[in-house]
Amino acid sequence: MGIKGRALTGPVFFWHVFRWMRMSMSLLTDQLRILDHAAPLELRGTVIEVRGLALRVADLPAPIGAMVSIREKNAHQSKLDGEVVGFDREQAIVMPLGPTTGIRRGDRVVAEHFSPFVRVGESLLGRVLDGMGRPMDGRGPLSDTLIRPLTPPPVDPLDRPLINQPLATGVRAVDALHSIGRGQRIGVFAAPGVGKSTLLGTMAKHTSAEVSVIALVGERGREVRDFIDNNLGPEGLARSVVVCATSDQPALLRIRAAVVAATVAEYFRDGGLDVMLIMDSITRFCQAQRQVGLAAGEPPATKGYPPSVFSMLPTLLERSGRTSKGSITGIYSVLVEGDDINEPISDACRGILDGHIQLSRDLAQKGHYPAIDVLSSVSRVADDVTGPEQQAAKRQVLKLIHSYQQVEDLLNIGAYAPGSNPDFDLAIACKPAVDRLLQQGRHEVKGAANFDAARSQLLALTQQTQQAQQQLNQRTRQPVTPAAR
Ligand SMILES: Nc1ncnc2c1ncn2[C@@H]1O[C@H](COP(=O)(O)OP(=O)(O)O)[C@@H](O)[C@H]1O
Ligand SMILES: [Mg+2]
Repeated sequence: MGIKGRALTGPVFFWHVFRWMRMSMSLLTDQLRILDHAAPLELRGTVIEVRGLALRVADLPAPIGAMVSIREKNAHQSKLDGEVVGFDREQAIVMPLGPTTGIRRGDRVVAEHFSPFVRVGESLLGRVLDGMGRPMDGRGPLSDTLIRPLTPPPVDPLDRPLINQPLATGVRAVDALHSIGRGQRIGVFAAPGVGKSTLLGTMAKHTSAEVSVIALVGERGREVRDFIDNNLGPEGLARSVVVCATSDQPALLRIRAAVVAATVAEYFRDGGLDVMLIMDSITRFCQAQRQVGLAAGEPPATKGYPPSVFSMLPTLLERSGRTSKGSITGIYSVLVEGDDINEPISDACRGILDGHIQLSRDLAQKGHYPAIDVLSSVSRVADDVTGPEQQAAKRQVLKLIHSYQQVEDLLNIGAYAPGSNPDFDLAIACKPAVDRLLQQGRHEVKGAANFDAARSQLLALTQQTQQAQQQLNQRTRQPVTPAAR
């Protein structure tokens, strides 16, 4: 026996024995961890009914959240996997993780694991996973992974340091005016087609966070490829993990994609990294939970959403945040259906999140991208992560934008006489410079974003505003000569 012709003797031999022992130990630990989650004894039930999307199973005393496999009566091979989502007297309610076609009365349902888990590791970087956390990019199995429970105990509130460091997103309007902090949770609210996914893609690609974990929940199949190839690109993907469950997949898989992404983000956070967790969209996650809740027999409440949606939402969103080890900055897209901003999911999200970025269809229609309505957006930690100079500059720019909005209609019909209102005059003079700060091409940023660069551009705009103000003052002070009249 030898390596490249050399005899395996002395220290080399012991080194190989040591490596072999270490590998065996880690495999053993992994297997023990799986055993931790496995059902202690085989629990079996029988399918007696399929009602809507859920199966009713008799004699299956498995707990909520247990993973089950559905098999032919006398077969060992699983036809379909599922999860116990509720009980109705003696019957367990099981939601399958696939279509119910082929399920028949009398099929066996066997409990596999009592608490679900996912495999995580450094090798997830650059990979695209399905809702179960399995690779779906055709690049082979994952190596060097360990097991992590999908529903860990909540983070101790005392282990949550204050959010006081900014995180660059690569979106100038956000970095300059509504700065995000490491560990903050923020929502991107908009109607369909206004630019949410594009904005999230820009952030995932250019953020200064070390890792991006992206959950694409309930998107159309076409959009997943589009997001990975066009929004994220190869360099963005290399430092990201994408987890997706498209709209045609069962509701449980869509929920699980979001939870798997949160678990993967927690793994990297516990490794001491700053992680950006992106969910597109949290509304689709809630819609999936609505399907599961209704199938489990919950009463529909606000707009058909059962109460479980409003208890699951904070549980999922609370998984982002800063701990003593690292941080997860959560960016969640919220679909505002029919431009109705009082829709129950966006209402609930607004209450839980530490800020919102509002996109405007009006701006998108004018070709103003990213279509961020900076006056309606807010980041609740912006003042904790920026200095007084930036805060003063931000207030000044917001005032300019507000003044311009007030005078815009008059300007458009030619009814504004310059000189009537000094605030309006300044806003009109500064409009092109403000737009240059706020508008940004999709591929304008190269590489990792720089927070200081965005701040410098904001401060430069303040100087331009001062110059414009001086010019306006001079103009008003000049005596009106007969020639000028
Ligand atoms: N920054 C941008 N620059 C140019 N066009 C954009 C930008 N953001 C969005 N768009 C346009 O808007 C369309 C819809 O964007 P998308 O991000 O898919 O919206 P949503 O996710 O809100 O449905 C895109 O196909 C693109 O044409
Ligand atoms: Mg989208």
